[in-house]
Amino acid sequence: MTATNQLWRLARYPEGLPTTEDLVFEEGPLAPLGEGEVRIRICYISIDPANRLWIRPEGSYIPPFPLGSVMPAACIGVVHESSHPRYQPGDWVQGIWGWQDFVTLPGGPEDRQLPMEEGGILHLPEPPPGSDYLDFFGLFGVHGLTAFFGMTDVGKVKPGDTVLISAAAGAIGSLATQIARNLGCRVVGLAGGPEKCAKVVEQFGADACIDYKSDDIREKLSVLAPNGVDVYFDNVGGEILEAAIDNMAHHGRIVFCGAISQYNDSDARGPANYMKLLYKQIELKGFLVFTYMDRMEEAVETLAGWKASGELHMELEVRYGIDNCLGAFHSLFDGSNRGKLVMCLNESGEP
Ligand SMILES: NC(=O)c1ccc[n+]([C@@H]2O[C@H](COP(=O)([O-])OP(=O)(O)OC[C@H]3O[C@@H](n4cnc5c(N)ncnc54)[C@H](OP(=O)(O)O)[C@@H]3O)[C@@H](O)[C@H]2O)c1
Repeated sequence: MTATNQLWRLARYPEGLPTTEDLVFEEGPLAPLGEGEVRIRICYISIDPANRLWIRPEGSYIPPFPLGSVMPAACIGVVHESSHPRYQPGDWVQGIWGWQDFVTLPGGPEDRQLPMEEGGILHLPEPPPGSDYLDFFGLFGVHGLTAFFGMTDVGKVKPGDTVLISAAAGAIGSLATQIARNLGCRVVGLAGGPEKCAKVVEQFGADACIDYKSDDIREKLSVLAPNGVDVYFDNVGGEILEAAIDNMAHHGRIVFCGAISQYNDSDARGPANYMKLLYKQIELKGFLVFTYMDRMEEAVETLAGWKASGELHMELEVRYGIDNCLGAFHSLFDGSNRGKLVMCLNESGEP
């Protein structure tokens, strides 16, 4: 049995991109398991932009994690040791346990994950045929649900709509692109660089992709969406949101999924041209995927069907080693990730 735990501790709330002074790498002994406790060996850590929001001192959609916490993140693991009857060694489980090798928790009377900051434990079902446990981070987890309900329930897309999607080569953006295409929309992606733009068109099926790092977004959109954008699925906010607003159709809808360009700023900036929301009667709606958790089956059924027919796939980038978590996290902000970013804590790649 491993007697130590390696982890990243939140020592200071970051200003800007987190550094090794904000998040400190530590190694310490594991205490013997207490009565009623469960020890989980973390196999996979989901590296997500939202983790940056969870360590903002003013809080976000949840209260800030206190200083001294393990850097929070969603994890998938296997029960390693248990003195609680609900949990047996070898059970696959999920929770918000953070950047560490092991987590030790009191076993509750029932499975629960929310409130996230209290570290609940959720048993995972067998993955659908052709899938594996990692899909509970991606297609059949937060990312699939966010893209699905964002596009259908919030964006209310219909066949023939012109849909614009930012961070279209990313985890949620690439799923949103494929979902909009599968629903009969004309899809224009936005991504950073020619390699990502080619992928958005060739692998994710967009009709076109704008390279926001070198193209003039407004000029491109005036050609690609001459009648305006009906639905903009926004993952990035900032100047790209402003360019989208300038090119929205009257009565268009903006799905406010995220604003990664603002997450490292202490003062997130709204669009300077927000009066156009009024002039064009545009609806801008923020949403959180947690609202849709009780409709998970509905989404999974459709997503699994598309996956089986080859109309939907999720790109996963797996990196290795607990000590590489911070570098991986930075990739989300410099765009060097390729799809859904996951840390695997076993060098062999096996759980
Ligand atoms: N509403 C919800 O419930 C919910 C749930 C989960 C996630 N989200 C949000 O969904 C968004 C996407 O998350 P994800 O996990 O799928 O991440 P991701 O798209 O896989 O990775 C982030 C991507 O954002 C782009 N980016 C980073 N900084 C940027 C900037 N300053 N300007 C423009 N683009 C920038 C980069 O792509 P390029 O190389 O193309 O620049 C990067 O690869 C995030 O905003 C996240 O917070 C919302």
